Amino acid sequence: MAALDTTQAPVFALDQVPLEPIAAAEGTPCYVYSAPVVSRRLAALQQALADCAWPHAVHYALKANSSLAIARLIRDGGAHADANSIGEIALATRAGFRPDQIVFTGVGKSPQELERAVSLDLKAINAESPGELDRIDALARSQGRRVRVALRVNPDVDAQSHPHISTGLKTSKFGVPLDDAAEVLRARRDAAGLEIIGVHVHVGSQITSLGPLCAAARKVADLAVALRAEGFPLSHLDLGGGLGIVYEQGGDVPTYEAFARALVDVARPTGLTLIVEPGRTLVGPAGVLLARVIDVKPHAGGGRFVVLDAGMTELMRPALYGAFHRIVPVHAADRPLVPCDVVGPVCESSDTFGRVRELPEPHVGDLMAIMDAGAYGAVMSNTYNRRPLPPEVLVEADGSWRVIRRRPTLDDMFALEQA
Ligand code: LLP
Repeated sequence: MAALDTTQAPVFALDQVPLEPIAAAEGTPCYVYSAPVVSRRLAALQQALADCAWPHAVHYALKANSSLAIARLIRDGGAHADANSIGEIALATRAGFRPDQIVFTGVGKSPQELERAVSLDLKAINAESPGELDRIDALARSQGRRVRVALRVNPDVDAQSHPHISTGLKTSKFGVPLDDAAEVLRARRDAAGLEIIGVHVHVGSQITSLGPLCAAARKVADLAVALRAEGFPLSHLDLGGGLGIVYEQGGDVPTYEAFARALVDVARPTGLTLIVEPGRTLVGPAGVLLARVIDVKPHAGGGRFVVLDAGMTELMRPALYGAFHRIVPVHAADRPLVPCDVVGPVCESSDTFGRVRELPEPHVGDLMAIMDAGAYGAVMSNTYNRRPLPPEVLVEADGSWRVIRRRPTLDDMFALEQA
């Protein structure tokens, strides 16, 4: 099939759904997602994997966007789930994923989380340390169970992404060093509470070339082959998520076809089922954050400060990682282009969405779409400065739309507190 255009046009242009009526009805800031874009991306990834004719499963990384409606959409598309906390496991269950469709990952799992996860008979728990394997074993035996586990391996591979979202270097907190992994598993091969069924790796996020993904995959594949030769009855190779998306015009990321071929080429010789845990690539380009201009003032360096009613509270990525998101005026305005620093209303200078962006001269009241905000947007929003969490809207294939998370009222905001 044709390669998916990952530089695809924005939600509103793609599905002809005007955004102003949504902003007018729900207010701003507000997240808007396109259901067809999510479904199409998932279908394209599944097709690319199916074309490689090798057993596989797509476990959507819920952390990228854990709205119930999005999770359900992805389940309806035939994917399984990767959960990172008890909250995400609960979400997955509510969205209709069966326990045997859920893998549980996470560098620190609390005793309560582990106890619950052990009782649920999940597809696998991805264990991050020898100690965690032992805790799972003990809990499993106390519950009279055998729990399927995979060991997360740290392959010491540089994801060549932002340091905050790179997880595969030996200095990072994730997994068990590759050189120790076989010994850690050998020491536990007879543990009555464990069924060791796989190895897991995830080296980072927003990875824009196949090199780091393949390097990590090959290392854990070699380990898996060695373990099988020793008699470990492994069944899968979980190669994590990490495939990037295009945030900046002219950017480039591997196609799903190239991604699938590269990983299947590594998995095939192992004889193991391939698991992938994509997050961002499925939902990132499907969402925008809508915001209105609430002030415009001169910038000492020339140009303008354009103050939006959305800030780092709604979309933290620019402040946290210096991440680039395109900012697009929703109304095609035939006004002269002026350099703008687009900022939020929060009392921090890091609350900046973009510096020196050339935009059609903005006016108070203009609607702006901050692009590619479907992943790690709403899920990372917070209430700093006592700002309410933003609502989320889902646009369906027929152009209709509905609120999938409402904006909290002031009463909601104080509901958990006592003076
Ligand atoms: N699997 C594991 C074990 C993960 O830790 C992650 C993401 C994924 C899968 C999904 O990765 P993806 O396909 O989305 O790259 N907040 C950051 C991203 C943090 C990613 C954390 N782990 C951001 O806004 O860029």
